[in-house]
Amino acid sequence: MAQPGGYGSSGIGFIDGEFMPLAELKIPVTDMGFQLSDMCYDAVHVWNGKFFRLGDHMERWGRSISARRYDSLGYDNDQVADILHGCVARAGLQKAMVFFIATRGTPATGQKDLRTCKNRLIAWAAPFYSVVADEDAGNGYDIVIAETIRIAPEAVDPTVKNFGRLDFVRASFEAYDRDARYTVLLDRDGYVTEGRGWNIFALIDGKLLSPDRGVLEGITRRTALELAGQLNIEARLARITAGELRSAEEVFLSSTAGGIMPVARIDGHAAAGGAPGPVTRQIKDRYWALHDDPAYTTPIKYNLAAA
Ligand SMILES: Cc1ncc(COP(=O)(O)O)c(C=O)c1O
Repeated sequence: MAQPGGYGSSGIGFIDGEFMPLAELKIPVTDMGFQLSDMCYDAVHVWNGKFFRLGDHMERWGRSISARRYDSLGYDNDQVADILHGCVARAGLQKAMVFFIATRGTPATGQKDLRTCKNRLIAWAAPFYSVVADEDAGNGYDIVIAETIRIAPEAVDPTVKNFGRLDFVRASFEAYDRDARYTVLLDRDGYVTEGRGWNIFALIDGKLLSPDRGVLEGITRRTALELAGQLNIEARLARITAGELRSAEEVFLSSTAGGIMPVARIDGHAAAGGAPGPVTRQIKDRYWALHDDPAYTTPIKYNLAAA
């Protein structure tokens, strides 16, 4: 779903204690979030007026905030959640992508002692979109396996959701040069990791596998693993090689921005049967059905629009 005026042109944001149109949201260039990618974030979606798995996103956010030591943020999880409700309510959106970011902030002096920064909270709600374009969906997405490797988890912890993504940027240009748009990265040992904005699954010998290290612990990944269990499909985290991915029976991507997204081609060759397979289709259908389940959803407090 493309936004008519372009990415970020509509929606409501929040920064430094104030709500404003998303297009007006700006951070100072002296914020270490800009200069050092010293930030972390989370992204949750709203579907038919309800957050999906908000509690799980808040829990992951809380872990990121403490891992990165954003101690001076000044907002607890309940306050952050209310700000997210406030963004969605003010934007009047029924289907939205909602981002919330902590940046280190601006240090006191040019030596940039990070302990002198006041951390900054930024949030916004924008119309829902998918990390891969609907118009590319066809029978399933095309992906390429990049030469660029994923940043090692020992250097940047990928379980803290972050925008330190120059590996993905380099890999994206590799993909564009190969007439592709979406790319999955391997780690330095040759195992599959993830793409920019998604985890990946492969059905191999009837077992549903997703990489066990060097990746974000996606909330959609968790949902897919749970749903596979309900379907009596053995599902677990594991090492997957590029060769195993290419010859898998089914492959799909998982993300809050798009849900369960089948892959049909890898490196320009038909893969995963060339069309969404039965396991992918069942998990996708059940994933969207969960969006009506009160156990997984939180209605938006639209009355906050008036506040
Ligand atoms: C690098 C990366 N991996 C995986 C995911 C999927 O995570 P989730 O299912 O929580 O949206 C994302 C989401 O943005 C991501 O950025």
